[in-house]
Amino acid sequence: MTHFPFEIAAVDGAARTGRIQTPRGDIRTPAFMPVGTAATVKALYPEQVSEAGADIILGNTYHLMLRPGAERVHRLGGLHRFMRWSGPILTDSGGFQVWSLSKLRQMSEEGVTFKSHIDGSAHSLTPERSIEIQADLLGADISMQLDECTAFPSPREEAERSMEMSLRWAKRSKAAFGERETQNLFGIVQGSTFEDLRRRSAEGLMEIGFDGYAIGGLAVGEGFEAMCEVLDFTTPVLPLDRPRYLMGVGKPVDLVESVARGVDMFDCVMPTRSGRHGQAWSDYGPVNLKNARFAEDDTPLNAAIACPASRDYSRAYIHHLVRAGEYLGSMLLSWHNIAYYEDLMARMRTAIAEGEFEAFRRGFLERWHSNEK
Ligand code: GUN
Repeated sequence: MTHFPFEIAAVDGAARTGRIQTPRGDIRTPAFMPVGTAATVKALYPEQVSEAGADIILGNTYHLMLRPGAERVHRLGGLHRFMRWSGPILTDSGGFQVWSLSKLRQMSEEGVTFKSHIDGSAHSLTPERSIEIQADLLGADISMQLDECTAFPSPREEAERSMEMSLRWAKRSKAAFGERETQNLFGIVQGSTFEDLRRRSAEGLMEIGFDGYAIGGLAVGEGFEAMCEVLDFTTPVLPLDRPRYLMGVGKPVDLVESVARGVDMFDCVMPTRSGRHGQAWSDYGPVNLKNARFAEDDTPLNAAIACPASRDYSRAYIHHLVRAGEYLGSMLLSWHNIAYYEDLMARMRTAIAEGEFEAFRRGFLERWHSNEK
């Protein structure tokens, strides 16, 4: 095995459903990967994450190299054993987190040097070191190339320079990764909102040859319409038979519209982060459980989802927990939000398999844009 087998069971328009077979289990696609930044999907036990329907989670090179340290995780048996998650793990390469979190970062052709957001200590990441951390030390099933997330907006020349450097880093990442039996490596398409740059990036990555192709540099301020447009001209360039992963996206409506454009994998902090801030997601958008209108609402968040947090606790109780600043409020809302996101993916997979994706999408958009909650 080099590529994990990716069986596409049904195609409906540009949307696809299938499964990626990894030695640690199948990933049903389209897939949503809960974010487990610091070796934990915040406020949830691993068992809750998998029971909520997640087949794979995401981990972060940046956070884990700073704390507790990649070598330490390795000595403790690798990331799966350390955090007690036996399914597949995809790790992000660190470039994006350096870009968004660290102070005093400096990019060069060699890589990136930065100061830790935790204690100010100095560190560096190169394409080679990122692969060593992800694949050798953490033991990720899917590693990502080190890339530079181009800021939005960027002048064309800057977007081009940045994209070309990410391509050179892609080549170095692939060389460092080599050929592995049980681990995969994904490349990342950059190029901001410029069609020819996105095409050049995708074609350059395909020449190098990756096990899957991610689309990076989106959800960085360009807005919903521009993101859809970039997907419209990027996904058709990518190989039909390899997974496509849209990084860091997004709200439920973004997932539906991206699946319609041929995306297979997603990750986002949205469900867990907003859960810790008192928000619950549904097809009608987010609701804030702090709101007084829930004070005596004895109904559950969503009786149709087979998750205790969605089905068995009243909105009034969760409202109370959030108002009182109780940990359980964050735990229940994070659990519900992950279950809701996974349920949304499952409904999309079923709709695609039945050739009914367009009808599902229309119904979803009607609910999303209605004023009901
Ligand atoms: N997460 C969200 N966007 C990006 C990106 O452009 N690159 C990487 N590596 N991770 C991301």
